[in-house]
Amino acid sequence: MSLSGKKILIAISGGIAAYKIHFLIRDFVKKGAEVQVIMTPDAEHFVTKLSISTLSKNPVYSDFYSDNGTWNSHVEMALWADVMVVAPCTASTLSKMVHGLCDNLVIATYMSAKCPVFIAPAMDLDMYAHPSTTKNLELAESFGHHIIPAESGELASGLIGQGRMAEPETIAHSVGDFFDSETEKTFVGKTVLITAGPTYEAIDPVRFVGNHSSGKMGFAIAERLHELGATVILIAGPTALTTTKAINRIDVVSAEDMLHACTANFADSDITVMSAAVADYTPVEVAQQKIKKKEEHFSIELKKTTDILASL
Ligand SMILES: Cc1cc2nc3c(=O)[nH]c(=O)nc-3n(C[C@H](O)[C@H](O)[C@H](O)COP(=O)(O)O)c2cc1C
Repeated sequence: MSLSGKKILIAISGGIAAYKIHFLIRDFVKKGAEVQVIMTPDAEHFVTKLSISTLSKNPVYSDFYSDNGTWNSHVEMALWADVMVVAPCTASTLSKMVHGLCDNLVIATYMSAKCPVFIAPAMDLDMYAHPSTTKNLELAESFGHHIIPAESGELASGLIGQGRMAEPETIAHSVGDFFDSETEKTFVGKTVLITAGPTYEAIDPVRFVGNHSSGKMGFAIAERLHELGATVILIAGPTALTTTKAINRIDVVSAEDMLHACTANFADSDITVMSAAVADYTPVEVAQQKIKKKEEHFSIELKKTTDILASL
């Protein structure tokens, strides 16, 4: 993991976990990164500028203006950074970030930044589990930000649950892994078409012929190729698996749906990965009504499905 020469902008907000940031800064600096720290006015109740600036070897800002009347340029700091790390990220700061409530230096800098943003939320368990936090984290993820989930354990309130900020080593690893993957972004500019999961072939409105494919392999390939810079089109059969928003996901049900989705997207792709478990046979007829249990024996006539790969 090489952080040497990387410019890391750390934004601290007003949570008890702010004390852990000293270790994160020391770690980044030890690895050769340049660290600039900004903080919200509330964060000043939790950590001192003196300790942070000593460790980061740079002045720490929490206001737009310095005492001598100069502007602490949020634009310059934002454009300087290779990555921005918001840690700890309070419920309040998270909410302001995703809704553009730009009332302090941290949010103005964040909104001016073009670099990747890492968010390490830290809250008491009920705040973390609150639907507004869940929604705001989803929004942040949809902006392409990297969420470093809070961990479970004893919280400052004495309660036990999920909400404590990820350990500094975990945050440092996430940032380091990001830079590592950046250096191997071999798939930038490539569009990859991937199929994954099973297909379900309808027998009647409530029954189908399917298979046990989980889709995990195709989804993992999709996530990795996305990390390596590819534009990913994922054609997914029925599965409960989730994907990050950056992946262009097309959900299909039957082999025929998958064929159509592949045909429509194949011409735009540079690479195609067929990992779906597509049904080889499908019922000749689909009953319009639920088939009643009457006969002692019952057969379904099946016909061959189109071989998707051969047809592309
Ligand atoms: C002792 C103490 C600990 C707090 N810890 C947290 C916390 O871990 N997470 C959080 O979202 N808010 C926490 N808060 C509340 C925030 O400080 C408060 O919402 C504040 O307005 C956050 O402002 P900021 O996000 O601009 O820094 C804490 C407050 C106090 C007094």
